[in-house]
Amino acid sequence: MTLAGYDHLLAAGRRLQWDDAAVDLRADAAAWPALDPALAARVTALVAGFCVAEVAVAAHLHPFGPAAGNPSAAACFALQAQDERRHARFFARAAAEVLGIDPDTGARAFAAPGVLALFETDLPALADRLAAGDAALPEAVGLYHLVLEGIVFAIGQEALLDTLTVAGVLPGVRDGLARVQGDERWHVGLGVMCLQDAGGTAEAGDVATLAARAAAAWGPDVATPERVERALAVHARRLTVLARAGAAAR
Ligand SMILES: [Fe+2]
Ligand SMILES: [Fe+2]
Repeated sequence: MTLAGYDHLLAAGRRLQWDDAAVDLRADAAAWPALDPALAARVTALVAGFCVAEVAVAAHLHPFGPAAGNPSAAACFALQAQDERRHARFFARAAAEVLGIDPDTGARAFAAPGVLALFETDLPALADRLAAGDAALPEAVGLYHLVLEGIVFAIGQEALLDTLTVAGVLPGVRDGLARVQGDERWHVGLGVMCLQDAGGTAEAGDVATLAARAAAAWGPDVATPERVERALAVHARRLTVLARAGAAAR
């Protein structure tokens, strides 16, 4: 049953594959200099945050496959890693070609401190513990897939898409972002499946306490009360589903 679930996710992930280099950013680059400064600042903080965060998730996924202990789950993590590298390349292109920022050396300065802390400190520390056998997969998946992807990325993506859609600008960034969102949905699904496999959320560490901090990571302009409430409600529903599945399995 679970193996079929992983294979189904893998097939879904394969169908979603897209080419980051093919997204046309020329109109975005041409429009950028005339953008309202407040709007440009908001977009810069979000794109810069995603530059840092997607590089970090791409770099720290490698211990997950070996820890999963089954080849179907490992194949899903391998495909996810490919997606994360593509996301990092896409946001790097957006930073360089549209915003005129070097993604490697310039993005950090514009990213929210809360985002930097989660992706440069919390995530590497937990990935290192997972690789060393000092953390179990559910704790790592709880942070990576449910909190970082399911809450932080979801809030940032929604904010960026809302901002660009309301202003009617940067169609190329919107196009790539929508594809990133599609990928992240199956990644979170993979996380939920792993936790289900492990018998619920009991071993998922401090997922619940991290959630509120994660939801606020982008700062108050992006993490509005409405967005935070929505993301935490979705997160709570995921935890409820997991708790029920865990109880049913016991
Ligand atoms: Fe990603
Ligand atoms: Fe992801």
